[in-house]
Amino acid sequence: MKISVIGSGYVGSVTAACFAEVGHEVVCVDIDKKKMDQINAGISPIYEEGLEELLQKYAGKSLTATTDYEYAITNTDISFICVGTPSAEDGSIDLSIVRAATASIGAVLAKKEGYHVVVVKSTVVPETTEKFVLPILEEISGKIAGKDFGVAMNPEFLREGKAVYDFMHPDKIVVGAIDKKSGDLVSELYRTFKCEVTRTSLSTAEMIKYANNSLLATKISFANEIGNICKRLNVDTYEVMEAVGKDSRISPRFLNSGAGFGGSCFPKDVKALIGKAKEIGYSPDLLESVIAVNEKQPILMTEILQKKIGSLAGKKIAVLGLAFKNDTDDIRESRAIPVIAELLRLGTEISAYDPMATENMKRIFPTIEYSEKAKDALKSADACLVMTEWDEFKQLDSEFEGMKEKIVIDGRRIIKAKNIDCEGLCW
Ligand code: UDX
Repeated sequence: MKISVIGSGYVGSVTAACFAEVGHEVVCVDIDKKKMDQINAGISPIYEEGLEELLQKYAGKSLTATTDYEYAITNTDISFICVGTPSAEDGSIDLSIVRAATASIGAVLAKKEGYHVVVVKSTVVPETTEKFVLPILEEISGKIAGKDFGVAMNPEFLREGKAVYDFMHPDKIVVGAIDKKSGDLVSELYRTFKCEVTRTSLSTAEMIKYANNSLLATKISFANEIGNICKRLNVDTYEVMEAVGKDSRISPRFLNSGAGFGGSCFPKDVKALIGKAKEIGYSPDLLESVIAVNEKQPILMTEILQKKIGSLAGKKIAVLGLAFKNDTDDIRESRAIPVIAELLRLGTEISAYDPMATENMKRIFPTIEYSEKAKDALKSADACLVMTEWDEFKQLDSEFEGMKEKIVIDGRRIIKAKNIDCEGLCW
């Protein structure tokens, strides 16, 4: 089938490359010409495992990139909207990019002959596709949804860093649609996948994405709550959760307690669902607590440290790990951000290290010291806070020898070194 993918961020570029791998003809569209040139040259605009290999395989063949909406939409049967939905100041999602992409599609649909399906893949709160995207398409195209063109919602469940793998090996494929014709066409794209397609309404598909991410975030905050209680009881919460996870109704995943969740999805999606719930007159106490626990965790790190070494003013603290999780340079909502902000507020000198994310963090905290190696960050530090679950931190040992006091607060249960005073955040 012929597909256009609007937006070449991490969801759009992965979706485009993976659909090409499945055998479809794909046109990427983005207003950023540089990105389009990169894709046409087989270069990935973002770092995502396996993505560049796919782009090199299909660029210039079944995968092309353009800034020309008209060309892309006229020459394809289905368009995926994969643009960003950043958080607005009040926590709700900012739909201005979705609006612009939708309007551009609508303008081409006005002239296009034949049936076309518009699919929203961007994460949008329930009712957005039906009450926001669809009316814009109808108004600008002058055509009627369900008759002249189709509308569908097909959420993604891709982890950053593993997005290509997750796309190709889905646990679930959800296709919400306004009618059978739109739903059938989108489902057909996934015919070769060894995964059942769950067919729903537009709002149900949107809600599945939010419920999914909110439940995963809830598991993490729950593990942190239990961990904070366990710590006061001298009980090892990892032992507790390992056993709890053996219950097949629960699963052991996403029960690692520590500094909490960051990233471009969990914090934003939970807050957006809270906002939507309030808008329709419901107060979502559990979801509010999920966020509250997550905001508390990083601050507990500095509190535990203060209990151990007293005032942090004038002390040098090494912060290991700046990315929101391992194997990425992404620092969005990283738990290291509130920790560094709190350390600065307390008058602490900071030496930071991350294998990939240093350049990104420099934009937020330009004045702190950044090291090329963990060993250099630890040198002459009074204590160390571990914020990210990088594999290389598991190997750290003699690197701690340069510290003044070998005091480590581990926010990810990752440190294995023996001759140090290592305290877990909630164990
Ligand atoms: C997540 C979802 O997994 C994915 O399905 C969705 O589409 C986007 O959001 P991602 O943000 O890439 O993916 O990261 P993920 O690997 O899920 O981790 C999110 C955060 O939770 C990280 O900060 C991680 O450190 C933290 N986490 C994860 C925990 O604190 N404990 C856990 O047990 C698991």
